[in-house]
Parts: sequence; C-alpha cells; structure tokens
Amino acid sequence: MATDRQPVTIPDFADWKRKGRRISVLTAYEFSIAKLLDQAGVDCLLVGDSMGTAVQGRETTLSVTLDQIVYHAEMVARAAQRALVVADLPFLSYHVSRRHAIRSAGRIFKETRCQAVKLEGGTRAAKTIRAVVDAEMPVMGHIGLTPQSVRRFGGYKVQRAADALRADAQAVAEAGAFALVLECIPAELAATITAEVPIPTIGIGAGAGCDGQVLVLHDMLGLLEDFRPRFARRYLEAGEMIRSAAARFIKDVESGEFPNESESFH
Ligand code: KIV
Repeated sequence: MATDRQPVTIPDFADWKRKGRRISVLTAYEFSIAKLLDQAGVDCLLVGDSMGTAVQGRETTLSVTLDQIVYHAEMVARAAQRALVVADLPFLSYHVSRRHAIRSAGRIFKETRCQAVKLEGGTRAAKTIRAVVDAEMPVMGHIGLTPQSVRRFGGYKVQRAADALRADAQAVAEAGAFALVLECIPAELAATITAEVPIPTIGIGAGAGCDGQVLVLHDMLGLLEDFRPRFARRYLEAGEMIRSAAARFIKDVESGEFPNESESFH
C-alpha cells in the first residue's frame, strides 16, 4: 500500500516506469467507494465506461453516454485526495472528428476535477490522441480487447495479433499518451510491449509483465456473481455479504427487533 499522500500527477507515471514501481488502478463510479479506495492508497481511479455493464447491468459498454461519465466522474474526482482520476471517453464521443473528441474531453475537464481521459484504439486513434493531448488534456490509451469494438471483434476475445498490437502501442505512445491499458492479450506479448514503449502499461488480463494492473471494482469485490473472468482476482465476496446483511435486516423488521429503544426518538 502506498503511504505517500502527495497527490499523484501525470509525470509520476513516467517516473514510476523508470523506477520500476508498479502502478495500481481500480475503477470507481461513486463518491463513498472512491473515497475508500483513495484512502487505501490506490494510485489511479478510472471512471470506466465499464459502468455500462457493472453499474447499469447492460451487456456492453456501448450505450454509456458522455453525460453519464461526467456525472460519475465529478463524484469520484471530488472524493479522491491522492489518486489520479481518469475518465473514459465513451463510445461515439470521440469518433466523429478530432474537434468532437476535444469537445468531449473538454467537458470532462471543465465539469469534473479529473486529470486525464482514456480512449480506446491504437494506430486508428493516434491522431485523435494527439489532438486531445495538444489541447492540454492528458490521455491514457487502451488497446487489445477494447470493449467499444466488441461488435467488430464478434465478442470478448483475447487479442493475439502481435505485430498489429505492437504497432498500436507505438502509435499511442508516439501520439503523446501518458499511459496505456493493455486488455486481454497474451502475457508474453504484453511484456514485450511493456519493454518496447516508453510509457507505463497497465494490464487487465495481460499478465504480470505490465508496469501496473487495473481491475474493475465489481469484479474484484465479487459484486457481479454470475460474471467471473479468469483474470479478475476476487478480493471480497461482497455479493454474499450484502445479501446476508439484507436478510438480517428483513428478519429484524419482521420480528420487531428493529428499531430498538436506542434507535428511536421520544
Ligand atoms: O471501462 C473500464 O473499466 C476499462 C478498464 C477495464 C480498463 O476500460
């Protein structure tokens, strides 16, 4: 656990890569949980468009809107005292034109205290990344199994096109991104990319050779019990804990045991 409470900055990421200090990233979507994760010492909170599946109960992230990201990012960034907060640019908020991408990222910077945005894509997104970075908004890249491309991929599959992924990683780094998420690619390939690019790689389903790791909060807490990706280690069985707390409350209401005297006003 990180003990240094100095706020994390964009240059820290490059510094940590140089020093070989691994970077911890978790997704967050609301104030109270973000505050706890920040207090625990996580380096970076990602307001991911995974809110589509994790929070909204949808099958993909495609329906998440920029308004929804701004709403959640504002809360998370207000809760974080130390962690760097990154917000996802959702599907179709940066694809139409570079001007559109700058406007969408600009909303996040104007309406929240986030320090960076994340957008998906390698070589095909490089010019967009450059445009947003040139407008003074730091960008985290994301390649491999990019969930916004799920229709083109035909499902959530491990991505193995090594040459294309290495070129994607270079393109994202050259475009000025400060970090790069590698999602669901073979561990050996992720380690090669990590050695090749000058920016830190943050893995999810990409093995131990990355510069950092990210998990979706609901996966690591066990909140989505029917969904258990093999790469997502569960640190808590929160689903079972919540169900059992609710069952105890129901029992106490039914038996008249809740509320008691000290929980009542006279
Ligand atoms: O939306 C998200 O949570 C993400 C992570 C899986 C990296 O993009």
